[in-house]
Amino acid sequence: MPYRRTTLSRYIIEEQRRLDRGAELIALVNDIQTACKYVANAVAKGALTGAQGGTGQVNVQGEEVRPLDLIANDIVLGSCEWGGHLAGMASEEMEALHPIPPQHPRGRFLLVFDPLDGSSNLDINMTVGTIFSVLRAPEGVAEPKVEHFLQPGTQQVCAGYALYGPSAMMVLTLGNGVHGFTLDPAIGAYLLTHPNLTIPADTQEFAVNASNQRFWEPPVRRYVEECVAGRSGVRGKDFNMRWIASMVAEVHRILMRGGLFMYPRDTKDPAKPGRLRLLYEANPMAWLVEQAGGAASTGRERLLDVQPIALHQRVPVILGSRNEVERLDRYHAAYDRGEDQPFFSPLFKERSLYFGAA
Ligand code: AHG
Ligand code: MN
Ligand code: MN
Repeated sequence: MPYRRTTLSRYIIEEQRRLDRGAELIALVNDIQTACKYVANAVAKGALTGAQGGTGQVNVQGEEVRPLDLIANDIVLGSCEWGGHLAGMASEEMEALHPIPPQHPRGRFLLVFDPLDGSSNLDINMTVGTIFSVLRAPEGVAEPKVEHFLQPGTQQVCAGYALYGPSAMMVLTLGNGVHGFTLDPAIGAYLLTHPNLTIPADTQEFAVNASNQRFWEPPVRRYVEECVAGRSGVRGKDFNMRWIASMVAEVHRILMRGGLFMYPRDTKDPAKPGRLRLLYEANPMAWLVEQAGGAASTGRERLLDVQPIALHQRVPVILGSRNEVERLDRYHAAYDRGEDQPFFSPLFKERSLYFGAA
């Protein structure tokens, strides 16, 4: 019976009772789910909105802005700024912070978000999503500045994403496991369909934009080379590769059946240590993955421990099934210690610095 299912609204209220979480946080999550329903509706209309193509604008990241990026950004701002739960907001689509308008009360939390992730997929009707992370505003700070948002991922109090795919979903953590809710369009409510998601420690699936391989560091080349070598190589098993170009969709697949996702450090643009943004892409996803038993790393450091130095900072991201992430950490450490031996890579047709066995 659908009405026997737990709605997201009920889940967060029961979590509040059980974990003694403040009502403010719960009310904020409620506003976020409202925003995600509006965005789901806007995205589902697809080409009918006339909002396909580009806006001609470039955002703070130097990327082309789609009309729905801006619509989704406005929806999240408008749905969450009035409630009295937030002291401030920051988004991928805004260079500066979004202060709470003076007519609304101030709250204790900070919201950082990517209103539409994977938006290059919009024109081809592929899965996109909204990513969000909630932090506490430092005690006594009513008008937060950028420095107050620069908290490591370990400080998050809620993180999650909304997925706009064949069905719309919301997946979130309040620090007590990861739970997935499917939007029932008939009643306009998210229903708990995927409680206690867990990521298996091992996998035979990896996701990486392989067109960047010439820019990768040797430990990443080594890892991918070994996966591609499959049963005939040191891994002794075949791997499958996926790339959706939408982090929300990749992380969702990993939460459903395991896998390894990475957008590692590369030398494409020396000013950018990675592609993905720390505060509103990497950190919320890293916490979800850890809460589901997986791991998330830069290759050299636990992602959640990275101390941010800028609002729109980019970071290398390696996350998913624990044993694969740890393997990549070992490969980075060995490379940094200079312990790798010269190796001829038949795949990349060049000498690299891998050593033989794992
Ligand atoms: P956004 O659409 O918010 O800019 O983010 C897109 C990100 C992420 O979703 C994905 O993993 C990656 O960019 C795709 O990168 P490529 O263009 O290299 O495929
Ligand atoms: Mn994004
Ligand atoms: Mn985006």
